[in-house]
Amino acid sequence: MDAILVTGAAGQIGSELVPALRQSFGAARVIASDIRMPASAAAGATGPFEHVDCTRPEQIQEVVRRHGVRTIYHMAAMLSAVAEDKPQAAWNLNMVGLYHVLEIARQYRCAAFFPSSIGAFGPTTPRDRTPQDTVQRPTTMYGVTKVSGELLCDYYARRFAVDVRGLRLPGLISYAAPPGGGTTDYAVEIFYQAIRYRHYTCFLRPDAALDMMYMPDAIRAILELMAADPARLAHRNAFNISAMNFTPERLAAEIRTHIPEFSIDYEVDPVRQAIADSWPRSVDDSVARAEWGWSPQYDIAAMTRDMLAKLGERLKPAR
Ligand SMILES: NC(=O)c1ccc[n+]([C@@H]2O[C@H](COP(=O)([O-])OP(=O)(O)OC[C@H]3O[C@@H](n4cnc5c(N)ncnc54)[C@H](O)[C@@H]3O)[C@@H](O)[C@H]2O)c1
Repeated sequence: MDAILVTGAAGQIGSELVPALRQSFGAARVIASDIRMPASAAAGATGPFEHVDCTRPEQIQEVVRRHGVRTIYHMAAMLSAVAEDKPQAAWNLNMVGLYHVLEIARQYRCAAFFPSSIGAFGPTTPRDRTPQDTVQRPTTMYGVTKVSGELLCDYYARRFAVDVRGLRLPGLISYAAPPGGGTTDYAVEIFYQAIRYRHYTCFLRPDAALDMMYMPDAIRAILELMAADPARLAHRNAFNISAMNFTPERLAAEIRTHIPEFSIDYEVDPVRQAIADSWPRSVDDSVARAEWGWSPQYDIAAMTRDMLAKLGERLKPAR
């Protein structure tokens, strides 16, 4: 029985990717792994869990061999704001970790998924409707590791025929697990604060436009890309995808349609604002639509309604 390994499974994406994979392929076939135990039952308690540090190739290899892993979803990475704070550690996890995963995929004939990001672009990239194939000169360590990772994945596909596929994900909004220190975290935090305190202090400027996606769309995109007919994939790796585009001001207005007394103010964090300023304001995802049929289901209104409903079941207003 071919097994599936998810690295970094306790994170924001892994917490929802593991249950989705278990639903599709059976709980026993999907091995969740991380360097920390998953906080909730989402990834850990519903099936096998292994401690795997991706900077230690022998740990990945041992689990791949023991479980008969044939597909690796490589989610372990340091996110943009944390990577800017610890650039050396970010290189080690994001690049050396990916290299180990690709080497093991080559040796054990595994398929692999690599999540790139809109952070793989930089200030010299066209910022509006950024094309699929364009200038990529990022100025953050996160971006350097993402564009290098895209190139390394392409190299392993071409040189060693490793079936490695990937997406350039935008900011992801979800309620199952907290975000891990990215520049778009505000778009998750705002919902917690809106429900609890009717107020949010945002670390990006009111007009900072970025592409975003609700987690159910992101999980579906990952599964659909991995199931896509390889003959249709001219790109295979690093597809631009998007679902919605908004500024903090626009998201606050959308929340106000449900919570009229909600207010927002701004204390701009220069580090995260500078990262946001170096990224596209929006990307063109027409190549993903053409090559494997990408189509988002959640816009800002549908996402906001669902986030407030799901978090509202868990959180109570503070007063
Ligand atoms: N969340 C987003 O908005 C977003 C957007 C674009 C791309 N991505 C990419 O998707 C991937 C997953 O992102 P996420 O949001 O789930 O991140 P996250 O920070 O929530 O989770 C990352 C996980 O990796 C684990 N980890 C850290 N060091 C490790 C190591 N040495 N070995 C194994 N695991 C380790 C952490 O414990 C954590 O659970 C990353 O590559 C990220 O760059 C995320």
